[in-house]
Amino acid sequence: MSSCPDAATARYASHVLRLAVLEAALISLAWGTLRPAAAQDAPAFAPGMISHMQNMEQFKDVDHGLQPTPPVIPRFEVDPDPSGAVATFQPNGATFTFNNAFFQNLGTNGRTCFTCHQPQTGWTVSAASVAERFVASGGSDPIFRIVDGATCPSDDVSTPAAKQAAYKLLTEKGLIRIGLPLPAGVQFAVTAVDDPYDCNTNPVTGLTSTTTGIVSTYRRPLPATNLGFLSTIMWDGREPSLTSQANDATLGHAQAATPPSAAQLAEIVAFESGLFTAQDIDNQAGYLAAAGATGGPVALSLQLPNFFIGVNDPFGNNPTHASFTSQIFDLFQPWLASGPVGYVAARESIARGEEVFNNTVISITGVAGINDVLNVQTFSGSCGTCHDTPNVGNHSVKAPLDIGIADAGAKAPPVLDISGLPVFTLKCMAGPLAGNVYQVTDPGRATISGLCQDIGKLKGPILRGLASRAPYFHNGSAATLTDVVNFYDQRFKIGFTDQEKTDLVNFLNSL
Ligand code: HEC
Ligand code: HEC
Repeated sequence: MSSCPDAATARYASHVLRLAVLEAALISLAWGTLRPAAAQDAPAFAPGMISHMQNMEQFKDVDHGLQPTPPVIPRFEVDPDPSGAVATFQPNGATFTFNNAFFQNLGTNGRTCFTCHQPQTGWTVSAASVAERFVASGGSDPIFRIVDGATCPSDDVSTPAAKQAAYKLLTEKGLIRIGLPLPAGVQFAVTAVDDPYDCNTNPVTGLTSTTTGIVSTYRRPLPATNLGFLSTIMWDGREPSLTSQANDATLGHAQAATPPSAAQLAEIVAFESGLFTAQDIDNQAGYLAAAGATGGPVALSLQLPNFFIGVNDPFGNNPTHASFTSQIFDLFQPWLASGPVGYVAARESIARGEEVFNNTVISITGVAGINDVLNVQTFSGSCGTCHDTPNVGNHSVKAPLDIGIADAGAKAPPVLDISGLPVFTLKCMAGPLAGNVYQVTDPGRATISGLCQDIGKLKGPILRGLASRAPYFHNGSAATLTDVVNFYDQRFKIGFTDQEKTDLVNFLNSL
């Protein structure tokens, strides 16, 4: 993944260091230096979340030690993944890790941002990569810390077998525990929790009444890359800025006793905002920017100047929005008829999959955030209705949506695997939805807003670098991209042919 810096690189490193310090100083000047950067926009959930994470220090880790880290993240880094290779491009040049706050131990448990955000897995972690780290370190790698790596901080980790059980959601599905306080004035009551770990049900770690205390759900780390394209931060959109996100991650995941400095926060945000990640090579189709195609992270970086909030908003919420197009991706169009060269069949399949993504008409029904907001029974859309940012695939405006991934009980999607997740029964007590009862593995945005209408709503993430970072969806319930496609086929009764499914999966694997 990296090489040792020689004398020339070391000189370059000190040059980069001086530039980074200068840049950090400029950024903090521009943002107003004297107050800690994150205090300017501290979100309402944060104090409760942080005090919960720090209270959890009453449960002691058995392992200590630092995060193994490569000396440098090169300007162009390529790593093998299950369908070829994923690559990260830093237009501003290589980053030396020893003096960059993203890679520094700013907390008390040995973790850094790099613990959960690594390039070879698209700047998150894959379940397979975590399982390998567990075996290689005997469960001592800093990702295995009970505060949120374990199913509950109160878990027994005193024997190898106990440890294996405590970290099973992390090693099997790549899930981190997210403990968030129910907000004051919450419209619903948590009337029951089926919790295999007794984490929500124990008042020391969880709920203190049906409307107070900490709700623990289990979520996939989102990729800390391609961030210039985000319209909302975190699965539930709870962070107002990357600065507040980095602050809260340090105080939470890393259990820091004091917040990072404004300069450290600026350095973290500058580093992660300078990363562009995409699949670069496909095992069957070869180089994804060959023969006129524009896959890979360099072409992706060139999309950034074209992006703005609402760039392709299907609902016209943004006054600056142009007319919506469902043609979200045009990376592989030149491969539709790629001529008599190598890789033909594989390239044509990827190009056809792009057409399936762009052109398949989907009757969108029962999606809170669309059908209720527009007040229509059926909205005739496509994948791009919800994944509208051109060549990126997240939503170009904030759009918390409930497509049913968090549903449990009778409504649980049959294709998805929600085994091992707690199931919450939520009864809506106030507002227009009063009386309704929901069974979910995650209340989603409702834990932040307290509103019944937000139950099960989450954001659609960026669809690049997918092949490197299975499993999928916020709760890791789709083990493969085939499961993702089968979920949509069933949920919206699309009726994909086997060929369309294969092509769509090949396309998603090439993003
Ligand atoms: C223990 C694992 C862990 C550590 C350590 C960690 N993160 Fe994360 N990160 C996550 C998880 C899990 C999420 C998604 C949580 C959610 O949405 O509720 C996330 C989300 C993010 C996102 C949001 C991306 C998006 O699309 O919205 C960014 C940015 C991010 N992390 C950056 C950082 C930074 C910077 C640090 C270091 C200060 C850090 N993370 C440390 C696990 C971690
Ligand atoms: C009605 C809105 C909607 C439509 C239509 C839609 N998606 Fe999604 N998509 C979402 C949301 C919301 C999520 C995140 C859900 C979650 O994790 O809870 C998501 C997640 C995904 C993910 C997982 C990404 C990850 O990082 O885990 C993939 C892949 C995906 N969608 C592909 C597609 C494809 C392909 C289509 C068309 C067949 C499609 N989507 C249609 C809203 C939609």
